[in-house]
Amino acid sequence: MAAPLHIGPLEIATPVVLAPMAGVTNASFRRLCRLYGERALPEALRPQQEGPVTTVAGGLAAPAGLYVTEMVTTRALVERNAKTLAMVRTDPAERVRSIQLYGVDPATVAAAVRILVTEDLADHIDLNFGCPVPKVTRKGGGAALPWKRDLLEAIMCAAVQASESAVAVTGRQRAVPVTVKMRLGIDDDHETFLDAARLAADAGIAALTLHARTARQHYAGKARWEQIARLKEATSLPVLGNGDIWSGDDAVAMLETTGCDGVVVGRGCQGRPWLFADIVAAMHGRAERTRPDLDAVIAVIKEHGRLLAAELGEDRGVRDLRKHIGWYLKGYPVGGAARAELMRVSSLTELDAALARMRERLPAQVPFPGAAAEGPRGRAGSPRRPHLPDGWLDSPYLGPADRALLAEAELDVSGG
Ligand SMILES: Cc1cc2nc3c(=O)[nH]c(=O)nc-3n(C[C@H](O)[C@H](O)[C@H](O)COP(=O)(O)O)c2cc1C
Repeated sequence: MAAPLHIGPLEIATPVVLAPMAGVTNASFRRLCRLYGERALPEALRPQQEGPVTTVAGGLAAPAGLYVTEMVTTRALVERNAKTLAMVRTDPAERVRSIQLYGVDPATVAAAVRILVTEDLADHIDLNFGCPVPKVTRKGGGAALPWKRDLLEAIMCAAVQASESAVAVTGRQRAVPVTVKMRLGIDDDHETFLDAARLAADAGIAALTLHARTARQHYAGKARWEQIARLKEATSLPVLGNGDIWSGDDAVAMLETTGCDGVVVGRGCQGRPWLFADIVAAMHGRAERTRPDLDAVIAVIKEHGRLLAAELGEDRGVRDLRKHIGWYLKGYPVGGAARAELMRVSSLTELDAALARMRERLPAQVPFPGAAAEGPRGRAGSPRRPHLPDGWLDSPYLGPADRALLAEAELDVSGG
């Protein structure tokens, strides 16, 4: 049995978190994942109604874990970009509104936090310092940023102070904890995570997530879980481990082998939102696992399509669904022609028709394909030298040229 996790007023009975994933973890996908997680809860923990649930101690219950938004850039939020505002308007059925922010400027990050807290849009704010995308790191943002200790510290302090003062000013009942998500460092010679943890604790950060890869590793190779254990030993903050959880058993193994307080799951649930049922079951000591046959997967695809159409409108929603369909069908012997047709659907009616045509060509029973639908999925690739501003690694403190570049590090960003 995994121990519950407390992050400020959040009482997380099952210590699992859906990782923020740009282009993936919108409200529809979060809802699917959360519902799977909640269905696998022991009866006593299963909430009886939708929406936020207050605990006896006055905290906010997250019985089946946290489900974090895609990252939102602080500048776009502060400028009240319509698309960005739509991203932070969470599903009213959500238990805890966890929003991830990406920013490179302390004042802008503080302003974004103030908006989320004073306008009652979030219960938890996560800061992203792990994005390895070259166009971001080249300007000193994302995974490059923690190398500059002064800037990292300033952003974390600004976010925590903005949250605390906005809670006080608005008289909100509960604190809005600020957490940090980061990588091991730039590369093996430029580790940053232990320094970052020290600065985070001093800044009042409530918990740390470590994606146990360097920026250089991108998504390649294996996550180094032993580094999660190192972080756990080095800090008194709650540590959430992240990287390469593909099954319920992997989640329990990460807790056991690293001693971390919770796990964060990204690519493993792409096309498999039921992974949260497996993880919740495993964390509550039960052996059942989800092994859907093709008809069960088709039913989830249709449900996901309807959720997306309601969230984004039918046109955008069905287009968004296409990538998920590829992930859902991974390992199922449905044939290339059916996949290609599904990639072209542009309405729910076309989706249903294409799924029906695919189904007609297949045998009456198409069982769960086993290993072909399990294990690693999603982004992988090979290690690449991180693109950094000239001279970035010469000093762990910001110089004037770095500041100028950073101003551009928040434009056109998506994903981490
Ligand atoms: C498509 C995609 C988008 C991502 N977007 C974000 C993001 O917005 N913020 C973030 O902190 N990490 C982001 N990540 C990184 C994940 O949160 C996670 O740290 C990483 O995938 C490793 O976990 P995993 O092995 O469980 O996938 C993204 C990853 C993927 C694959």
